[in-house]
Amino acid sequence: MSPQKRLNTLGLFVNLVLSAFIFGSVCAYLFVNMRTFQLLAIGSVVLPAVALTPEQLITAPRRSDAVPNPSGEAALFSTGQYSFESHESSTVWDLIDLKSGKISQLTNDSNVAEIVWLGSSDSGLLYINSTNADIPGGVELWVSNTTDFEKSRYKAASLPASFSGLKTAITESGDINFLVYGQSYGNGTAYNKELAMKPFSTARIYDSIYVRHWDTWLTTTFNAVFSGTLEEKKSGQWATSRYISKGSLKNLVSSVKNLESPYPPYGDSSDYDISPDGKWVAFKSKAPELPRANNTASYIYLVPHDGSQNPGAINGPDSPGTPDGVKGDSSGPAFSPDSERLAYLQMTDVAYEADRRTLYVYTIGSKQTISVLAKDWDRSPSAAKWTADGKNLIINTEDRARNRLFILPADADDEFKPRNFTDGGSVASYYNLPNGEILVSGSAIWTSRTIYTATPEKGVTNVIFSANEVDPGLKGISPADVDEFYYEGNWTDIHSWIIYPANFDKSKTYPLLFYIHGGPQGSSADSWSTRWNYKVWADQGYVVVAPNPTGSTGFGDKLTDMITNNWGSYPYDDLVKGWEFVRDNFDFIDTDNGVAAGASYGGFMINWIQGNPLGRKFKALVSHDGTFVADAKISTEELWFIEHDFNGTFWANRDNYRRWDPSAPEHILQMDTPQLIIHSDLDFRLPISEGLSLFNVLQMRGVPSRLLNFPDENHWVTNQENSLVWHQQVLGWINKYSGIGASNPNAVSLDDTIVPVVDYNP
Ligand SMILES: *[C@@H]1O[C@H](CO)[C@@H](O)[C@H](O)[C@H]1NC(C)=O
Ligand SMILES: *[C@@H]1O[C@H](CO)[C@@H](O)[C@H](O)[C@H]1NC(C)=O
Ligand SMILES: *[C@@H]1O[C@H](CO)[C@@H](O)[C@H](O)[C@H]1NC(C)=O
Ligand SMILES: *[C@@H]1O[C@H](CO)[C@@H](O)[C@H](O)[C@H]1NC(C)=O
Ligand SMILES: *[C@@H]1O[C@H](CO)[C@@H](O)[C@H](O)[C@H]1NC(C)=O
Ligand SMILES: *[C@@H]1O[C@H](CO)[C@@H](O)[C@H](O)[C@H]1NC(C)=O
Ligand SMILES: *[C@@H]1O[C@H](CO)[C@@H](O)[C@H](O)[C@H]1NC(C)=O
Ligand SMILES: *[C@@H]1O[C@H](CO)[C@@H](O)[C@H](O)[C@H]1NC(C)=O
Repeated sequence: MSPQKRLNTLGLFVNLVLSAFIFGSVCAYLFVNMRTFQLLAIGSVVLPAVALTPEQLITAPRRSDAVPNPSGEAALFSTGQYSFESHESSTVWDLIDLKSGKISQLTNDSNVAEIVWLGSSDSGLLYINSTNADIPGGVELWVSNTTDFEKSRYKAASLPASFSGLKTAITESGDINFLVYGQSYGNGTAYNKELAMKPFSTARIYDSIYVRHWDTWLTTTFNAVFSGTLEEKKSGQWATSRYISKGSLKNLVSSVKNLESPYPPYGDSSDYDISPDGKWVAFKSKAPELPRANNTASYIYLVPHDGSQNPGAINGPDSPGTPDGVKGDSSGPAFSPDSERLAYLQMTDVAYEADRRTLYVYTIGSKQTISVLAKDWDRSPSAAKWTADGKNLIINTEDRARNRLFILPADADDEFKPRNFTDGGSVASYYNLPNGEILVSGSAIWTSRTIYTATPEKGVTNVIFSANEVDPGLKGISPADVDEFYYEGNWTDIHSWIIYPANFDKSKTYPLLFYIHGGPQGSSADSWSTRWNYKVWADQGYVVVAPNPTGSTGFGDKLTDMITNNWGSYPYDDLVKGWEFVRDNFDFIDTDNGVAAGASYGGFMINWIQGNPLGRKFKALVSHDGTFVADAKISTEELWFIEHDFNGTFWANRDNYRRWDPSAPEHILQMDTPQLIIHSDLDFRLPISEGLSLFNVLQMRGVPSRLLNFPDENHWVTNQENSLVWHQQVLGWINKYSGIGASNPNAVSLDDTIVPVVDYNP
């Protein structure tokens, strides 16, 4: 009856409990849950469970990561929150005392866009003020301090456009060198949207492919990193010096044609770094000499902060130290504490966006081969940071459906296996503290934000904050709601999460919600999501099962790579076997009334399941932004993706594209399960025509179906008002067919519709 293999989901919490974190009655339940499902029946300890509703999810505080001050006594973070009463978002900046966990408000002024610590001071702050008194569309840099934010604040610089991504370093002479990024014209001038000339026609004209990306049509402007310097004047106040007083910031990117940094749509300040001595800037850009649409190649560029030389690639085709045969995407440049070395990550393959990232270290100015660290390690780190002594690197890596911190020496050889020192949940960001500890901000399926300290020697040492303990909407959610199991898949063991509803009672049965993640090279991970939140689905009265089938990341290269040219084979069979395993092993899951949902690749898989035998096992399906017509994949933007995943172009290898085609007649003829199709206009990755095609087919064949469309959303639904409708439709749809709607008066219903339904049926 019990799953074949079980990992301990709760390792982090064991640490938490050991470190004397007070969980009250929740602890008792935790220890019960850590054993087996049988022991769960002991459940005399009742959780104060409150179901997480879509409204609570959407209006719950969303906290940034916590950034420590130089002494490591306090950290700074922001909290954004949406209100369905005012229909507006607000942001508050808070300080958290890292010893006591006490939180105090710094400011809730809506003009404060970003704050960083000012130099070596423990109380000084530098922030971006999102308005500019003189330049419409510009921003300002302001200085303040933590003792009296309101009284001490003053303007230090006026910046001519909308900049963000502030990073700073103190120079030898005591100046503050800073970086920001914004849009640039080809000539290097910052692009200010409000001041730019608007043409009378809306036409767009293109001579090369890659005309649009994610949700944006490409224009002649691009992202660039800009540098500037603040000097402490005789008055004791900071003000801009040479670069800005000459009229503008220094554009560090535009002097080489076709460079762009950060890289859209999700590139941010982690695409660049400033050396601790303030002299150097490293940034990532796509390869300027290659077409953008069909390769992932990007290099790390190095440039003096004062822009006195043009940026040069350290790992480009002509760079002396470039490692042999390494041609893929570079990322995460990070200077060593002595400013002499630069760590970064790079993929090997030139056209595989999910290729393994490997860690490299470059010595500034050196013409020697860049050294590779732990080359044979079968994991793909997403970030690297140096320890204070410059001897080790701490990396954040997806590992078995978590994001864990690992440590390795800066001279690790090929065979070295880095060691993890965090366990549960997903690390979002981490900073060195002067006492050798690391301040971690993360999340888990059961909490939107955790802040804790850890050391490579002791693991988690102190849990400072967990949102589920504080936020009223998240009350009652705990690690006890989450478990995991492994089952025998098509060719290897497959991991799966299992998430229980509020007031879960093992002796009762709950319809299955089978969730299939996107990517396909991605994972269902132990992290919080505001878009596909397992707990929200479970609390309608389902048990959520979220497997990580073939194609998933974090379990080693083979599981990820086996999906290449196999979109509908191994993963589909893994899912069939997962569904059968659930049916045969969990008495509390009702598979007869189960439903399935997925987005992106998960949407494709739902569409594929609809036309295959597994589709008959579900009462309802939900596909969000899934592909339908095999040949239509060529309408996407990142062409390297389909060329890799289907092994070539669709004209040279059409069979590869058509082998698993949900729109093939033999699959259309099997389609019979009620399906909600969600597809939005700004999804340029998988254009809206895919969702429309499937909807037309289901309607023509009399299969109960509904189309949900957002004209202003891309591949994701992020606007809070749209998110509420999305949840209401998705949950209403599955509740209607699973029977939850009839049995639970509190469940979301399609009748609650807040948007009129267009239905011209005779
Ligand atoms: C900002 O915080 C102050 C002090 O807590 C409070 O009085 C004020 O109403 C808040 N303003 C906004 C816009 O939230
Ligand atoms: C932001 O800048 C504007 C324009 O200079 C100024 O009026 C306002 O007080 C500033 N607000 C803050 C919080 O710095
Ligand atoms: C913070 O600002 C207040 C008000 O301007 C000032 O009295 C105090 O000295 C400042 N503190 C620090 C540490 O700069
Ligand atoms: C750069 O180009 C923009 C757009 O054409 C123009 O408005 C701006 O004046 C130019 N800047 C310089 C320094 O020539
Ligand atoms: C990438 O596209 C360019 C044209 O934009 C073409 O010359 C080249 O062969 C393509 N490469 C691959 C691997 O498809
Ligand atoms: C490292 O990860 C393993 C699971 O692979 C976990 O059991 C262990 O607790 C983690 N180590 C620390 C120190 O958190
Ligand atoms: C694995 O999947 C492939 C492709 O669908 C199928 O041919 C094969 O029979 C499956 N293997 C097992 C052991 O089920
Ligand atoms: C197709 O697969 C072959 C064999 O695995 C490989 O050598 C080749 O590079 C692939 N072609 C493309 C375009 O991915």
